[in-house]
Amino acid sequence: MTSDPITLMKQEVGKAAAARVTSGSVVGLGTGSTTAYAIQFLGDRLAQGEITNIVGIPTSFQAEVLAKKYGIPLTTLDAVDKIDVAIDGADEVDPQKNLIKGGGAAHTREKIVDSLAETFIVVVDQGKLVDRLGSTFLLPVEVLPMAIAPVMRAIQALGGVPELRMGIKKAGPVVTDQGNLVIDVKFASIDDPAGLEKTLNNIPGVLENGLFVNCTDVVLVGEVIDGKPSVREF
Ligand code: A5P
Repeated sequence: MTSDPITLMKQEVGKAAAARVTSGSVVGLGTGSTTAYAIQFLGDRLAQGEITNIVGIPTSFQAEVLAKKYGIPLTTLDAVDKIDVAIDGADEVDPQKNLIKGGGAAHTREKIVDSLAETFIVVVDQGKLVDRLGSTFLLPVEVLPMAIAPVMRAIQALGGVPELRMGIKKAGPVVTDQGNLVIDVKFASIDDPAGLEKTLNNIPGVLENGLFVNCTDVVLVGEVIDGKPSVREF
């Protein structure tokens, strides 16, 4: 048990998302510290018989490990023809519910799974809400290793300032679950997220960027009010 209000808030918002999953659902399992609680509570609901017959599609090695830990059976996109609901975190959310994701370097698989879901639920804390994408967080771009130099030049030509993401407690760059590298890009202002998403993905060597445009259905926002965690729908 923890008394840290931020952890309690993440737990509450994770629980609120897990509560929306119904029996028989195919569930996209997102990545990050908030979604980790949703996966845990989903496992609890399954173990308690509150819901039955759900299968998960993980968006990362982290999600796969957590699903196994909490007893959620897994499947793949080859075996299902639809995803009913996906639960995932975000690094920024704008007023149109567009997102920046990829703080955990998992945005490529997250975008595949989240965009296929009939209902995509985003779980965040209040601090992730911004007026304009890119104001607090750099935009992650996953790149094939051999294309790092030309992709960086192409991003600079677009007005971005690219930075190769380096590991923490690991020498050298972060390597994604797919074996690629991540460039974090500072843009002075992201005025057209849909246009920038396409432009970046058009650079040869770019696998996927962290702009998620027009794919969010529900945003659950965790807050700490008077020291107590609470959740509201955005
Ligand atoms: C993973 O690559 C990201 O898209 C995460 O979903 C995002 O960074 C949110 O993570 P937290 O819930 O840990 O803030």
